Amino acid sequence: MFETLKPMPADPILSLTVEARADNNPKKVDLGSGVYKTDAGNTPVLDCVREAQFRRVNEETSKVYVSPKGDEGFTTAITNLLFGADHPALKDNRVRAAQVPGGCGALRVGAEFVMRAAPDAAIYVSNPTWANHVPLLGESGMKIKEYPYYDYASHTVDFDAMMEGLKAAGKGDLVLLHGCCHNPCGADLSHDQWRSVTDLAVKNGFTPFIDIAYQGFGDGVEEDAFGIRHMAAHVPEMVIAQSCSKNFGLYRERTGTTLILGRNAAEADVALSQMLSAIRAIYSMPPAHGAELVKIILEDEALKARWIEEVAEMRERIAGVRTDLVAGIAAAGVNEDFSFIERERGMFSFLGITPQQVETLKKDYSIYMVNSSRISVCGLNPSNMDYFCDSLAKVLRQ
Ligand code: LMR
Repeated sequence: MFETLKPMPADPILSLTVEARADNNPKKVDLGSGVYKTDAGNTPVLDCVREAQFRRVNEETSKVYVSPKGDEGFTTAITNLLFGADHPALKDNRVRAAQVPGGCGALRVGAEFVMRAAPDAAIYVSNPTWANHVPLLGESGMKIKEYPYYDYASHTVDFDAMMEGLKAAGKGDLVLLHGCCHNPCGADLSHDQWRSVTDLAVKNGFTPFIDIAYQGFGDGVEEDAFGIRHMAAHVPEMVIAQSCSKNFGLYRERTGTTLILGRNAAEADVALSQMLSAIRAIYSMPPAHGAELVKIILEDEALKARWIEEVAEMRERIAGVRTDLVAGIAAAGVNEDFSFIERERGMFSFLGITPQQVETLKKDYSIYMVNSSRISVCGLNPSNMDYFCDSLAKVLRQ
């Protein structure tokens, strides 16, 4: 039967890492995948994670199965991180959560859950959005629609167009929003814009589905939860997909959470039972290790304080690279205005160059980025910044 299969192209983001690793050019620059890197170009294990691992190794007594819901201590800690401990939705006991395999697992479990509640559901995703949103959500059977988001000319959120586009979403539809640090464009909603989208959701009845994979990488751990907290205080129902890959540096441990906000405690319980049944039918239960580490960190005052510091270090480095990049491009003699990069948040920005220029940077300079010209900015550092800026300047002049 397998002879009927057609070969699939490699993943447009993950394949860049493979290509860059195989490139022998000592000057190569990998700006592909959204993976945090230090000034030295490494992705180290965080100090707080290393310490939690020591404790875990010493304390672990069994590898027996966990439940489909995962670890209660982990899901409670993440729920508090997202909502803040005093949120009215928590006081009203309307939030339920399951530990899932990373941000991708979180999105897929959320989608499978929604399909049980509303098999005809459509989800509106921003144009542009993370390339993997479409297969992760769409292959659950959910219909994918789009709303306008980014204005490539002004490098800002085209909020009027977004609100106009979202008028089409009504009861029974979902709207996917990036909680912070929009992937791929780095342009986030302001607080007022979050308020307006929330008002529209309440008025027209669509259900927000928020993907938050970079909490702490924008303005701060608390600050980056504004959209979730504001919406959850006003909308009746919501789904959230959360990831610990980036902010805990736990990429390969596949650690994340899917959360549901129900209209009341009884409906939230039923919703959770459906989500757990979906989980059991897909992978039975989540991997344990990463979530154990996050629980140890967030339940320990000193380790949590160290984690907050380490997230701040990563955030500040990314902001510093953005500033250096804008200055470096100007110093390389480029006349176009790239100052928008400094105003954007999180790991990504579009350079705004053509796919052909992206290809030339790869072929002639061993500089790797997604075809859309999305760069993962922390791939830049003091050793490769000048090379990158000079190469970009040459390609722009060609
Ligand atoms: C990215 O957008 O580069 C990351 O989220 C990694 C991935 O899985 O695509």
